[in-house]
Amino acid sequence: MRKAVAKVEAVPPGEMLPVDIEGLPPIVIFNLDGELFATSNICTHAVARLSDGFFEEGVIECPLHSGCFDVRTGEATEFPCEIPLKTYNVEVDGDDILVEFDEA
Ligand code: FES
Repeated sequence: MRKAVAKVEAVPPGEMLPVDIEGLPPIVIFNLDGELFATSNICTHAVARLSDGFFEEGVIECPLHSGCFDVRTGEATEFPCEIPLKTYNVEVDGDDILVEFDEA
């Protein structure tokens, strides 16, 4: 299911935007040098919202224990995170950001 989740202007380069839509998993949109990526907003190590952490150079650092993930691939890059983060396909249609969610 593809869904419009935000406007492109809401996520400037270098920024991230948490998106919480009822009935869908919480995600974060990242703007990495003009390219958009989306991942789950919940750390795979414990329960923490990654959008409360730090986004720098394509990496999101969890606010709870400082584990890290590559936002492009979801790969866990820093201990204690080992399980990859779920990623979502992102498209831009005009000024809308569209994210592909799994069918419920
Ligand atoms: Fe994210 Fe522990 S909850 S690193």
